[in-house]
Amino acid sequence: MPLVTTKEMFEKAYNGGYAVGAFNVNNMEIVQGITEAAAELNAPLILQVSKGARAYANHTYLIKLVEAAVIETGLPIALHLDHGNSFELCKSCIDGGFTSVMIDASSKSFEENIALTRQVVEYAHDHGVVVEAELGTLAGIEDEVNVSAEDSSYTRPEDVQEFVERTGCDSLAIAIGTSHGAYKFKPGTDPKLRLDILEEVQKRLPGFPIVLHGSSSVPQEFVKMINENGGNMPGAIGIPEEQLRMAAKMAVCKINIDSDLRLAMTATIRKYFNEHPDHFDPRQYLAPARTAIKEMVKHKIVDVLGCDGKA
Ligand code: G3H
Ligand code: 13P
Ligand code: ZN
Repeated sequence: MPLVTTKEMFEKAYNGGYAVGAFNVNNMEIVQGITEAAAELNAPLILQVSKGARAYANHTYLIKLVEAAVIETGLPIALHLDHGNSFELCKSCIDGGFTSVMIDASSKSFEENIALTRQVVEYAHDHGVVVEAELGTLAGIEDEVNVSAEDSSYTRPEDVQEFVERTGCDSLAIAIGTSHGAYKFKPGTDPKLRLDILEEVQKRLPGFPIVLHGSSSVPQEFVKMINENGGNMPGAIGIPEEQLRMAAKMAVCKINIDSDLRLAMTATIRKYFNEHPDHFDPRQYLAPARTAIKEMVKHKIVDVLGCDGKA
């Protein structure tokens, strides 16, 4: 099976009350850990590449790694550009074999967001590629953009219908209280997603796939493992998984997770070096890191996304 778009995946997810995981990839071990988990659980999958990942690993290497995963697993896999910030970047990914792109013009005015998203949609649809857009602003860090909690803003449900109609986008990322990175909330806060906003959006866009970014839960066992092995990450707090599970049963069809994989990988490598200070063969520490990613993705597929057995 070649790489697929998210169209059929999202239709099935919407009707089935589950979401598909979109996991960020940067190297071979990450691609292998994620795709081995999805293959064991027969889950549909979105692998996403940020601008930074593309600069780090190179477009061709990433495409070939993902194509290898398709051959090895036989799964429906979509290859998606995460947080595209310009028409040129989206075009380059469309021309270079991606099946889905995000144009993130959420920091621009409503009219500018519509104009840029529309431009990307026209080019993408002419080439059989689907487009994710964003309305509302998440807090946190993505690529080189850092949005403070004060500057973030929830999506206004009254805007979504006009935005989707005028842009022709295929899915919409909304801001309902998730945020990027490992430091999402101040310690001691009780994070609550605005599922009421999601419900309002769903009413105005029946059957339309919604996306949640910034959906890592920052498992405290891994933060502890990092801190116990020479790291320093006090106050790393994420989104409660049961709230994401509820969103996945509603209109949310795609949930983005990156930080949790980074934490699992880094915690495992830190512990490994603490226990084996004399080792220096990268395979020795990358193999358990890959397994940690695989276990994390299996947990997300079963307990958060609910997409096991849905490939
Ligand atoms: O939302 C951003 C993703 O976590 C990708 O992060 O830009 O550091 O690759 P990155
Ligand atoms: P996290 O930082 O919560 O993993 O979010 C990742 C993301 O939204 C990628 O686009
Ligand atoms: Zn994101």
